[in-house]
Amino acid sequence: MSVIKKVLVAGASGYLGRYAVKEFKDRGYYVRALARNPEKIKTAGPHTEPAIFDIADEIFTGDVTSPDTIKGVCKGIDIVFSALGLTSPDPKFNNYDVDYLGNKLILEEALREHVSRFIYVSVFNQDKMAEIPTIKAHELFVADLKASGMPWAIIRPNGYFSDMGRFFSMAQSGHIFMVGEGEKKINPVHGADLAKICADAADDQNREIAVGGPDIYTFREVMEMAFHASDKTPWITPLPLWLAEGALMVTSVFNRNLADLLSFAVEALKFDHVAPACGTRHLKEFFAELASSKVQ
Ligand SMILES: NC(=O)c1ccc[n+]([C@@H]2O[C@H](COP(=O)([O-])OP(=O)(O)OC[C@H]3O[C@@H](n4cnc5c(N)ncnc54)[C@H](OP(=O)(O)O)[C@@H]3O)[C@@H](O)[C@H]2O)c1
Repeated sequence: MSVIKKVLVAGASGYLGRYAVKEFKDRGYYVRALARNPEKIKTAGPHTEPAIFDIADEIFTGDVTSPDTIKGVCKGIDIVFSALGLTSPDPKFNNYDVDYLGNKLILEEALREHVSRFIYVSVFNQDKMAEIPTIKAHELFVADLKASGMPWAIIRPNGYFSDMGRFFSMAQSGHIFMVGEGEKKINPVHGADLAKICADAADDQNREIAVGGPDIYTFREVMEMAFHASDKTPWITPLPLWLAEGALMVTSVFNRNLADLLSFAVEALKFDHVAPACGTRHLKEFFAELASSKVQ
């Protein structure tokens, strides 16, 4: 009789985390979902990611910025998968606090419990954006994980459909300010497709896995597609890079955490993000799905 393996999904209420919970469950794992607000996972997410309250075997309520709430999170766990990170501004905490220190806390718990593998989601093209605070925090954790003696896998996705969903929301408002000329390319990936790669890593060796989606677009093409899905005429105003960077500097005076997060978005538009293609889901269909969910 085969033993059912137990996985902890950290960041289970997020876009990728929810798909990871579902994917691990579909593969027969026992899934413990770490969420700071269990209410949130009772309903689907804003980008059609699934409700997972009834899918996970167990919900562990904890916030990595309150270390006491994380104690015991890895008890009895075989594999940790973490898509836990700060992706929207927080008045009190930054990427260092959450992506680095928060994941480190989980790693310490995992080491104590002799977990057999830690799968961590960082970012693609990290070397080109090494000075950006979000990337720094991710890579500090990656370095600690590799040095810890724990078997590991690092997933390096380029951009999720949920991120492209931001362009969809802007298109719905009728207008998009585009930083630069929008000529750089990306092949974004659906959370469900990415979750399969993440779950495959549970049985893999120590390695870094770069992941993108099946179709390559320029950022301008993504925006135009978002307008078409919204049934609106594309209205896109390019903003020179120097202007966006100037605005960032001003923002950093008033709101450092917001500026740090925005600096990632601005920096990312300076070069292509074409990663090895995986998956079968297409952005056009995703935008159509978002459009129909807004109509209902
Ligand atoms: N989005 C992209 O295009 C992209 C591309 C490459 C890499 N990544 C990386 O992939 C990871 C997942 O991204 P995502 O888009 O799925 O992010 P997301 O939807 O914002 O999910 C982040 C998860 O982390 C949790 N979290 C944040 N702060 C926490 C805290 N203090 N204690 C406990 N949980 C906390 C969130 O909980 P709440 O739901 O309660 O906020 C959520 O479950 C991130 O590390 C991100 O940097 C993202």
